Amino acid sequence: MRVYPEVIGVASESSGGTDTLERPDNLPQDGGQGPVPVVGTDTVIECRGLTKRYRVALGYEIEALSSLDLQVKRGEIFAIVGPNGSGKTTTLKLLLGLIFPSEGDAFILGEPPRSRRAKRRIGFVPEGPFFYQHMNGEEVVRFYGRLCGLRGRDLRARTDELLKLVGMSKRRDVVMSQCSKGMVQRIGLASALVNDPDVVLMDEPTSGLDPIGAHEIKELTVRLRDAGKTVLLCSHLLEQVEEVCDRIAILHRGSRLAYGPIDEILQITDQTELVAINVSEDAARQLAAMSSESHTRAGELHCMIKEDADPFQALDVVRQGGGELLRFGRVRESLEDAFIRAVTASAREDAAISTDAADTGGTADMTGGSDEATAEEGGEEA
Ligand SMILES: Nc1ncnc2c1ncn2[C@@H]1O[C@H](COP(=O)(O)OP(=O)(O)OP(=O)(O)O)[C@@H](O)[C@H]1O
Ligand SMILES: [Mg+2]
Repeated sequence: MRVYPEVIGVASESSGGTDTLERPDNLPQDGGQGPVPVVGTDTVIECRGLTKRYRVALGYEIEALSSLDLQVKRGEIFAIVGPNGSGKTTTLKLLLGLIFPSEGDAFILGEPPRSRRAKRRIGFVPEGPFFYQHMNGEEVVRFYGRLCGLRGRDLRARTDELLKLVGMSKRRDVVMSQCSKGMVQRIGLASALVNDPDVVLMDEPTSGLDPIGAHEIKELTVRLRDAGKTVLLCSHLLEQVEEVCDRIAILHRGSRLAYGPIDEILQITDQTELVAINVSEDAARQLAAMSSESHTRAGELHCMIKEDADPFQALDVVRQGGGELLRFGRVRESLEDAFIRAVTASAREDAAISTDAADTGGTADMTGGSDEATAEEGGEEA
């Protein structure tokens, strides 16, 4: 297990990188004359032109993150979404000061990422947390509690409270080697909350969980926000993110493709959805003819009215057929639709640029255009 003693309330990580922290000489010390965060606002996390290049084989570098700008506000759930290899974990590692940026700046709670003062108020749930295998869940949470300075009755009370919060009270005695993925994830979350952090960073928090477990983590995330905490989570499970987050950034190959409130990013489409019950057979046939897609599920008739059909005429058909209208209105695209739209537009742009480069005799992309460039162990990981 790797423990980063400077990162308080942080569960350990199972993969990637080396253990040594190296500080580039050109970085300002905490409290030095480096760049300053946004002052006098409720911005909790800020990235400005944040760029990370990893050194890979044969002296090549790959740019895992390119000039990322974003701000996370106090008390919101902000999600960074993107496909595998798009730079999500890299962003979190930069914010936690586990690796250093190649360019740009990051601030968390108004401090540079390596500030101990900020770390006391941060909790981090890594992707695939990994703990000492011989410890049981309770011992793991107590271990992190002690690292955060809790002792005696306070430590016992906090451990009990957190085990209850993540639904592990009755399974506290199970040793980590016998825990399921979901149980490990819950213990990771409890450990990350042991210092009662103001900001919680989560990397793929629902990965490996069954639908009930994923639902519980989503509820917990909302409860954290309701308790005034700021949550930054990374995920490629779009459906789960869509339900809980306030604002998002879509990353693709290290670049930000979209950024803002989820309701603004998800576009209203031209399609009208109609859902009704108790519709007569004849009315159902008429509605099907006016729809690009229609089906009956659990007694409800769902129709997507064709763009060239009159949606209000479909409403009349429901009424005349004695049906009861349950839902009627324009459809907002899902996060998955928005994501595919953004990524496809970016891929088209890339293709146009490489065609231009080929026309002008330019050089080819070193990453070969794949989503995930091959990473060599021991890049510039801190
Ligand atoms: N230590 C490293 N050395 C070299 N390259 C790395 C290193 N860590 C990550 N990379 C590369 O940086 C890119 C971004 O990786 P990152 O782990 O941030 O992606 P991600 O969005 O978290 O992906 P996933 O959804 O699979 O977790 C990838 O191309 C990855 O191969
Ligand atoms: Mg990741």
